Amino acid sequence: MAGVDPDEEQARAWWNAWSESFQSEGGHSIAIAFGPGASEEDDLGLLGNVSGTDTVELGCGGAQFGIALAQQGANVTGVDISEEQLSYAQGLAEEHDVDVNFIHNSVTDLSDISGGTFDLAVSAFAFQWVEDLGACFSEAARVLRDGGTLVFSVDHPYYKIIDPESHEFKKSYFDDSPRRAYSDSFDAEMVVYSRGVGETVQLLNDAGFSVEAIREPGYENPEEYEAEYGSFKPELMAKVPPTIVYSARI
Ligand SMILES: C[S@@+](CC[C@H](N)C(=O)[O-])C[C@H]1O[C@@H](n2cnc3c(N)ncnc32)[C@H](O)[C@@H]1O
Repeated sequence: MAGVDPDEEQARAWWNAWSESFQSEGGHSIAIAFGPGASEEDDLGLLGNVSGTDTVELGCGGAQFGIALAQQGANVTGVDISEEQLSYAQGLAEEHDVDVNFIHNSVTDLSDISGGTFDLAVSAFAFQWVEDLGACFSEAARVLRDGGTLVFSVDHPYYKIIDPESHEFKKSYFDDSPRRAYSDSFDAEMVVYSRGVGETVQLLNDAGFSVEAIREPGYENPEEYEAEYGSFKPELMAKVPPTIVYSARI
């Protein structure tokens, strides 16, 4: 693996510690899906026909997304910073009898991958764990061929600032300080970054991408939201998109 930046050791340690319980929590089905909120490719239509494409999944975790793409005929490479997540992904790919190539790299330093290798880069709910998102986008731009596409989802930054208990804002939309939580049982710290939509688009532009679409999938009504999230204040939280999906071309 390329050298891990000391700031990223924390993400690696957290995910190595959390991987087993994260994967056993359930809900991680093999699907071409960008996360919660009706955000399957069938609803979003952002990827098109992936058959025959060279595709990289960045922050692949268990690679449920990448395996589903491979089942559709894509040549898939999965990249993750966590050895435990990659080991789970490898086992899952074998279980589903698909060939996926796995690389242990940080998405901010894809130095094990040559430039111009992929037609498509996808990522689901990984980039909020990455401090240097600019470096991540620059690396995605480098490993994509000209005209290639990056499609990724993160938590919607507006959804994350609402406190469902108090119905108030937990913090300002403009406050970009990360959310931190130390776990004694994991002996590791979770650090999650939140960026506004404008900042994310600016970072994509700085890396040479043109944003082609932004999707904010959500729920038509509180019952649908509750079916996915349980009784987590559905009347309030169903009013905001939980997920934001960006599609950008290089
Ligand atoms: C919430 S999981 C999402 C995994 C998968 N995409 C999914 O939808 O289940 C976030 C993943 O990002 C990975 N990750 C965090 N920081 C990373 C980095 N700098 N480089 C590569 N992977 C990273 C973690 O190891 C973890 O597997």
